Amino acid sequence: MTQEPTVPESLAGIGATALGVALLRAQESSRPDRLFDDPYARHFLQAVDPAFSPWAAGASAATARFLQVMAEQVAVRTRFLDRALLEAAERGCEQVVLLACGMDARAFRLAWPPGTKVFELDFADVLAFKAAVLDSRGATAACHRVEVATDLRQDWPRALTESGFNPGRPAAWLAEGILYALPPEAADLLLDRITALSAPASMLALDHMKDSELLRSARADISAELVDLWRGGPTENLDAWLARRGWQPAVTDIAEAAAACERPIPPAFDPARPSAGRGWLATAHLPKPR
Ligand SMILES: C[S@@+](CC[C@H](N)C(=O)[O-])C[C@H]1O[C@@H](n2cnc3c(N)ncnc32)[C@H](O)[C@@H]1O
Repeated sequence: MTQEPTVPESLAGIGATALGVALLRAQESSRPDRLFDDPYARHFLQAVDPAFSPWAAGASAATARFLQVMAEQVAVRTRFLDRALLEAAERGCEQVVLLACGMDARAFRLAWPPGTKVFELDFADVLAFKAAVLDSRGATAACHRVEVATDLRQDWPRALTESGFNPGRPAAWLAEGILYALPPEAADLLLDRITALSAPASMLALDHMKDSELLRSARADISAELVDLWRGGPTENLDAWLARRGWQPAVTDIAEAAAACERPIPPAFDPARPSAGRGWLATAHLPKPR
């Protein structure tokens, strides 16, 4: 029997950001010139508010402003990361790991090669909410999907391997919408753990952003909690951070990635604005053995 989705406790805190991303994906999906189509994003929002509509959302001026400074970042990063993961899967990474997956519906909406296993990691109640919404809509995964309920501050590598992840085989990893929220030492530990679990020919895709006056003030208009969510993430530049652990990185500024999609530079990451920060998208590969 399908369970009625209940909004979990963790969606009131950091998890609320997962619904914020879903809102931006729902808005992008309703554009005629969309960069991707995520038909599931609006279902998550409708489970919280049955009257939800992508364009009416963000009715408060503060929310609308925050969404406006973030919208193009989420649109461009989603397209970039969709492609990075599919390419890695097509090149032979049969295991895909979505860290802090939130309402990411890639397991359902991307055309995975046969045999792909997608592991989704997040808090148990976030995953339960997500599964209940997807079940209630009759959604079917386009891969072998494995939920891994875990806290990324705990021993998640063990939870992942106990769920069937094989560290001896190449994997495609995704750390999306998460690095900025980690203190630097936690970001280092996350990357160390990913690296320890990664066989040669593995790929890691991520986004990262530098906070700014513009972004802080847009968050402050909404809540103090949202201001405090930013903990900085890696302190060195992404190239050095990844290369020091044996990854071969390719880092793109979000402004360049936006231009490649013929989208405006997201205001919060526009190098021409003194009050803006910076945003990056990256892929990194572990070399194959010779
Ligand atoms: C900004 S959302 C990003 C979600 C998703 N990656 C995306 O881009 O759509 C952050 C996610 O991190 C999850 N998260 C935060 N801290 C976590 C932790 N300690 N363990 C597991 N998940 C966590 C939240 O529940 C939330 O779903």
